[in-house]
Amino acid sequence: MQGTVLLTGAAGGIGRATAHFLAQRGHAVVIADLDVAACRSVASEIRAAGGQSIAVGLDVSDPASVDAAVATAQDLGELKGLVNSAGIVHLGGIRDVSRTDWDRVIGVNLTGTYNLCKAVEPVFTQHGGSIVNVASTAGRTASTFSSPAYVASKAGVIGLTMSLAHQLAPQGVRVNAVAPGIIDTPMIQGYGPERHEKLLAGIPLGRMGSAEEVAHTIGFLISDESSYVTGQTIAINGGTFIS
Ligand SMILES: NC(=O)c1ccc[n+]([C@@H]2O[C@H](COP(=O)([O-])OP(=O)(O)OC[C@H]3O[C@@H](n4cnc5c(N)ncnc54)[C@H](O)[C@@H]3O)[C@@H](O)[C@H]2O)c1
Repeated sequence: MQGTVLLTGAAGGIGRATAHFLAQRGHAVVIADLDVAACRSVASEIRAAGGQSIAVGLDVSDPASVDAAVATAQDLGELKGLVNSAGIVHLGGIRDVSRTDWDRVIGVNLTGTYNLCKAVEPVFTQHGGSIVNVASTAGRTASTFSSPAYVASKAGVIGLTMSLAHQLAPQGVRVNAVAPGIIDTPMIQGYGPERHEKLLAGIPLGRMGSAEEVAHTIGFLISDESSYVTGQTIAINGGTFIS
């Protein structure tokens, strides 16, 4: 599958690396994020390198914004791929999770992923497609630092991935997820040196992952190279959690 891929969170660390990797592999890429200025700059970098790309502002938690982005994405050619990388992190224990925090984290990470999957479903079931959701190791094993809201949101993404994969397979739509561990992006820069040290000590490969290492797995799952893979969550975590 070449075709057009809609990528959310495309201005972030993993999103930006994925955008460039998908473009290098011949996909037209729709760069979607809350940060419109950053989206424009990623899209113009891709065009300058000879790829096809447009930028679109998007709030994944707002269904109207999502529907508008999916409509715009179809201007760039046959929409055949969706990568849900938009997300927000939340750290702490249950006492740190206010009802407002809970709604915000679930609203972006889980409901946002649902909103995008729901919006592309009528398009993808017409001609096939591939969806890759960005979950987290935190959705498979409760980590020390992630809050219950973040863990629940990412466990929900894994459940949503399995359910959609099962339901949409007969229409030629594959749905998979990646579960990154500690990846060196702006998201984890606020963790502070003490947390970084503890996290590094728990990684058997002895280092953080790079955004490019996540992008390579997403590129595989989006493409026909993984044509018999659906409903799976692939861990990219340096051996932190082995199941
Ligand atoms: N970095 C890690 O260690 C790590 C580990 C596991 C999972 N993840 C997941 O990977 C994904 C990408 O994270 P990252 O490390 O690139 O983080 P990042 O903070 O660099 O990027 C996240 C992007 O999402 C965008 N975003 C946030 N809320 C949005 C909304 N409502 N609508 C549209 N865009 C929105 C942000 O503007 C940002 O560009 C996230 O889902 C995150 O939970 C990251």
